[in-house]
Amino acid sequence: MVKTKEVTDMNTPDYLKYVVNKIHSTIVATVDDKGLPVTCAIDMMDCDENSLYFLTAKGKAFYDRLKKREFLAFTALKGKDTMSSVAISVQGKVRELGFEKIPELFKKNLYMNEIYPTEESRKALTVFQIYEGDGEWFDLSKKPIERASFLFGKEEIDPNGYFINKNCIGCGSCLEVCPQQCIDISNNPAVIRQENCLHCGNCKEICPVGAVERR
Ligand SMILES: Cc1cc2nc3c(=O)[nH]c(=O)nc-3n(C[C@H](O)[C@H](O)[C@H](O)COP(=O)(O)O)c2cc1C
Ligand code: SF4
Ligand code: SF4
Repeated sequence: MVKTKEVTDMNTPDYLKYVVNKIHSTIVATVDDKGLPVTCAIDMMDCDENSLYFLTAKGKAFYDRLKKREFLAFTALKGKDTMSSVAISVQGKVRELGFEKIPELFKKNLYMNEIYPTEESRKALTVFQIYEGDGEWFDLSKKPIERASFLFGKEEIDPNGYFINKNCIGCGSCLEVCPQQCIDISNNPAVIRQENCLHCGNCKEICPVGAVERR
């Protein structure tokens, strides 16, 4: 199991379980033959420590898009309005597992029996596993906002966001324009609290010595 970059008390399996059990229906993006993005609603039906499982039918255009690129991204949203919501976004590699896991997914997701009521009607179904990827937890209900990166099926996280380098002169201009007040200027160089940062870029724009870098 890969441990997350720890900023909430959740780790990778908790985020994956949250997607399956607390959100379930997600919006998945794939890319079509013209290289354009296409989205559709897909249920994340099961997970283990390092992967997610969903099913689809082989006749769908979605299936073709998955097979062609073997990659997807999704966002899953929980909350009644913007300021009470958590979003989990994931991008990762997928592989087709086939029919074998279908009966198990139907047992865990009983509503599927209403959509595909007979054994015969399930013949076209196939299971995919998202086996390697990056994810982000973004909680707008917290003040300041709270975000955390996690990864599964691989070791290396690609750093992203804004960082302050040693050119910082401690002037404090960045803190004045920071909407989340998440820059600690008592340090030299100043330090951005990554778990609260919106990635808005105000600090980079205003810094007089170019000490803020985007990764
Ligand atoms: C709430 C909800 C959940 C859905 N879950 C799935 C799913 O898990 N698998 C699936 O193949 N289709 C699911 N669908 C239907 C797909 O979203 C729909 O078939 C898809 O848009 C087809 O895309 P395509 O025409 O590009 O293949 C779901 C639809 C809704 C409304
Ligand atoms: S990117 Fe925006 S939110 Fe993040 S530290 Fe800079 S000003 Fe603050
Ligand atoms: S604006 Fe630039 S130089 Fe000033 S405290 Fe922020 S990072 Fe440092």
